[in-house]
Amino acid sequence: MHDEIKEVLITEEEIQEKTKELASIITEQFDGKFPLAVGVLKGAMPFMSDLLKRVNTHIEMDFMDVSSYEGGMRSTGEVKIIKDLNTKVNDRDLLIIEDIIDSGLTLNYLVDLFKYRQANSITIVTLLDKPSGRQTGIRADLVGFEVPDAFVVGYGLDYQEKYRNLPYIGVLKPEIYS
Ligand code: XMP
Ligand code: MG
Repeated sequence: MHDEIKEVLITEEEIQEKTKELASIITEQFDGKFPLAVGVLKGAMPFMSDLLKRVNTHIEMDFMDVSSYEGGMRSTGEVKIIKDLNTKVNDRDLLIIEDIIDSGLTLNYLVDLFKYRQANSITIVTLLDKPSGRQTGIRADLVGFEVPDAFVVGYGLDYQEKYRNLPYIGVLKPEIYS
C-alpha cells in the first residue's frame, strides 16, 4: 500500500500535533456549551476521532453521510444524503467536522440544511483546505492544513475506497489512476 504513494504531503506527526492545537481551540470555544459534533462520513472519521479525544469539555457526536463524488475525483455538484443525523439540531451549537473542503459544495449544502433546521450556531473545522477548487464562498472557521491543487489520499481520504487507513496525507503515483 505505502509503495503506491508518490509523496507524503503531511506526516502522521504533523497531523497529530495539529489535532492537539485545534482541540485546545475547540475546548476553549465550547467550554460549558455541550455542542453537537457532526462528522461527515466517511472521510472525517480518523480526524474526528483524533481531534475529539483531545477536546476537554462535554461534546455530543453524530454522523452524516453525504456524497457528491460517486467514487470519482470530481464533484458532480449534486449533494445526496446517504445517512442523516439521528439528533435534532434546532437550538444546538454545531461543530461540523470535515476531511477536506474542495469545491465547498458539500459544506454549503450542509450549512444551508442546518440553518433551515434552526441550529443556534455552526462552526466548521476541516483537516484540509484546497482553496484552488472552491466554487462557493464557504470558509471553514478552523483549518488544519492548506493543500495544493492535487488529489490527496490518506487519513480518511480515499481513491476508490482505498487508502483511508493511511496515517498520513499523500499523493498517489500517477500509474494508480490508469
Ligand atoms: P467539496 O468539493 O464538496 O468536496 O468541497 C468535499 C468532499 O470531496 C471529497 N474530496 C476529496 N477526496 N481527495 C479525496 O480523497 C481529494 O483530494 C478530495 N477533494 C475532495 C471529500 O470526500 C470531501 O469530503
Ligand atoms: Mg470522499
